[in-house]
Amino acid sequence: MATVSQIENNYIVEERDGYRFPPGLRRNLPFYLFSRFFRPGNPIRLFEHLQATFGRVSYYRIGPSQIVVMNDPDLVREVLIAQPQNFIKERTQRRMKILLGEGLITSDGEVHKRQRRIVAPAFHRQRIQNYASLMVERSAAMRDSWQGGVELDASAEMMRLALQIVARTLFNSDVTKDVQRINDEVNAIMRLYNFLVALPRAEALLHLPIPGLMRFKRARKRLDKVVYRMIDDRRRSGIDGGDLLSMLLASRDDEADHSGMTDEQLRDEVLTIFLAGYETVANALAWTWLLLGQDPDAEVKLHAEIDAVLGRRLPTLEDLPHLRFAEMVLSESMRLYPPAWAMGRQATCDVEIGPYKLPAGTYIFFSQYIIQRNPDFFPDPLRFDPERFTPERKAERPRFTYFPFGGGSRQCIGESFAWMEAILSLVTMAQRWRLRLIPGQKIDVQPKITLRPKYPIRMMPELR
Ligand code: HEM
Repeated sequence: MATVSQIENNYIVEERDGYRFPPGLRRNLPFYLFSRFFRPGNPIRLFEHLQATFGRVSYYRIGPSQIVVMNDPDLVREVLIAQPQNFIKERTQRRMKILLGEGLITSDGEVHKRQRRIVAPAFHRQRIQNYASLMVERSAAMRDSWQGGVELDASAEMMRLALQIVARTLFNSDVTKDVQRINDEVNAIMRLYNFLVALPRAEALLHLPIPGLMRFKRARKRLDKVVYRMIDDRRRSGIDGGDLLSMLLASRDDEADHSGMTDEQLRDEVLTIFLAGYETVANALAWTWLLLGQDPDAEVKLHAEIDAVLGRRLPTLEDLPHLRFAEMVLSESMRLYPPAWAMGRQATCDVEIGPYKLPAGTYIFFSQYIIQRNPDFFPDPLRFDPERFTPERKAERPRFTYFPFGGGSRQCIGESFAWMEAILSLVTMAQRWRLRLIPGQKIDVQPKITLRPKYPIRMMPELR
């Protein structure tokens, strides 16, 4: 097992067993559980430690699993654009099948390709434009519910808003009992899910009468009942609600056999979109309020843009191209706090990526959080500076130095939807209110499936 280290194009390569690995931790990860230098339990701290010690590309093991961390834009491009056919989603995401079935996030290969073809039309720019007024209306209702001098938690408020918006756009329903029910069950499931993904062979264990798993199964059953009923009602009524559910029901695979989706596939996609579609946007907005609360200059500029473009009227779809600074603020916020903070794949065959040659089965991770805070691409990286996102400065940076929505054939299908929602919501609320950050509070990230704030973001609304 001779190891020879050499440097190829600035990458360090170690030859082992006929493969070429990056440098990394010598021992299995659990060995470091009580390490003074990093906490393996927090993946962001682990990735930061690996980058500081070994550079952008590094290696570690958990049990028999080999993991390579590639926080390098050229190599991310290699995986997502040049050879996606050699990878599937990594295990934690595949495990989500126990909740999301074969929906877009969890499926791979041909199943994913077909689903993507069928679902894509529902997300075309023209189709989602109808949602603009609804997004503004919900945001206006939210701003009306705030009171000057009454403290609020920006994180909880943005969750509430994004949930209402996804409920209306997906099901054309207010957050009625059904949607609230779906949300409660999903939350209960996600709490158990963290425990489930840690188990080997969780899928097989689901058949055993283990109390935690029984609770999971019961919650999933209740959830399915609500979702299937909604699908069934809509199918039978034949009414086009103008929402995503109606579009998904009408979608056909025009490149193949013109077939639509079965109820089971619809259930999987509805839950996938529901889950992918609201916590991400809610987090992006919550972090944006925090950053604006710490930067009065950016806040003044944002208000000036809102006053110039909108005056006192509510925004519409047509205003979007003119709300440039709002877009820059959100871009910079998603640089520092990317809601999808890391992505992972697993190699299905031996792969060559840059100077590395990795065996089949290797897990590859890259983190937006780490890459987008690298001073090589973003000087003075911890400073919040929306001016980094002028068209000229954006054009200067290589691809995959900034990729909050991923890239390649699995790029976020809801990206246009998310931009529209985030910009319209932010300006609608900022038109009326300034949110002051209450001093002396603890602020930290919690890297779950999305990058949540670890503590409430306590803010005081002040009428503008
Ligand atoms: C700020 C908001 C959002 C961010 C940062 C975000 C980020 C991402 C990222 C990084 C991926 C790719 C994951 C991977 O390749 O492993 C993804 C996929 C996906 N997103 Fe989003 N997303 C956002 C909002 C939305 C919304 C609003 C929807 C739907 C309404 C949505 C639906 C999806 C779906 C269905 C996929 C899977 C696509 C596929 O694999 O074909 N996302 N998202």
